[in-house]
Amino acid sequence: MSEKKLLTVLKNIKTETPPVWMMRQAGRYLKEYRDVRKQAGGFLDLCYNPRLAKEVTLQPIKRFGFDAAILFADILLLPQALGREVWFEAGEGPRLNPILEEKDILNFNNVEKVNNNLSKIYETVELVKSELPKETTLIGFAGAPWTVATYMVAGKGGDDQIAAKKFMTQYPETFSLLIERLTRATTEYLCEQVKAGADVIKIFDSWAGSLGGTYFYKYVFDPIKKICNGVKDRYPKVPIIVFPKGSGANYKIFCDEKFLDCLALDSNVSQTWARKEIQPFKPIQGNLDPIHLVTGGDEMISQIDYILENFSNGPYVFNLGHGITPDADPRNIEILLKRVAQ
Ligand code: CP3
Repeated sequence: MSEKKLLTVLKNIKTETPPVWMMRQAGRYLKEYRDVRKQAGGFLDLCYNPRLAKEVTLQPIKRFGFDAAILFADILLLPQALGREVWFEAGEGPRLNPILEEKDILNFNNVEKVNNNLSKIYETVELVKSELPKETTLIGFAGAPWTVATYMVAGKGGDDQIAAKKFMTQYPETFSLLIERLTRATTEYLCEQVKAGADVIKIFDSWAGSLGGTYFYKYVFDPIKKICNGVKDRYPKVPIIVFPKGSGANYKIFCDEKFLDCLALDSNVSQTWARKEIQPFKPIQGNLDPIHLVTGGDEMISQIDYILENFSNGPYVFNLGHGITPDADPRNIEILLKRVAQ
């Protein structure tokens, strides 16, 4: 059996207690992160500084002993490597120069240039890998094409995918071209991360839940499938976690597929439903609401217990349903870890 607990679960084998890690486990809720970020300059400077990015990747491992480290980077580094402008407005989140026409897509950088632009990220993977405890799994990641496209078309983040939906319905061929180019570039980006040492890949489709019907297949499911198959063609053994956040009943359509090894559930997914409908087919990961790391107390404990009660009979990774927020209290993570290990 594998020494790394997360890899065991991703082979569809149940462990006595679940492996634990947290989305956005490196971040502003940690004082040591804020210190290093200040030292780096800004968030993007930190992403492109392998020594410091390695340090913040390892911070939550050193502090909490999580079973997995996730590469410190961002899903918007790929659009930047393709040649789009990306910057972060303090307190507001990401900004990009929006994609307005086909020419913007045809002008994307080629594979060599993209890989060259991302070379510091691959260097971070190598550095982290060389320092990680042997029982800890290293997760590489990318955004899924639909989610990345929503930022590229709107030019900003936010809860609103209207700009991308307008583009998608008014200029379907151009939008398909964008998705296709992102699919190819993402496959390459992830393969390079595996080559540099990532043990596992995770694909974040944070806005998957904003599409339904045939659009879900065309822009969420199919591109993710192509990427996973592309990665597995080159690295057949690398496990892949897919996070189609907010997909609801569409989570089911991933269950029969060989191209993924684990489904990450958001907090809205009913645990009693997932236990019957998802877990018998795929290992699952999730899905505590991140608010509990802010508010803690008995309420957090009872929600942790409810999740354990539902999921502990099968292969399962304990995680949140979305990322840790900057106002989370690190002490609640310590309490959570004790409870999950009981
Ligand atoms: O610890 C980790 O999880 C690894 C690093 C990581 C970051 N972003 C660092 C980050 C990962 C895996 C991501 C993924 C990511 N980035 C997603 C998908 C997951 C999700 O949250 O839905 C998305 C949509 C993004 C795009 C993005 N990056 C947004 C919308 C924002 C602003 C929101 C915010 O929290 O400020 C970011 C910034 C960002 N990415 C931060 C971090 C630690 C905060 C930057 C800072 O230090 O100011």
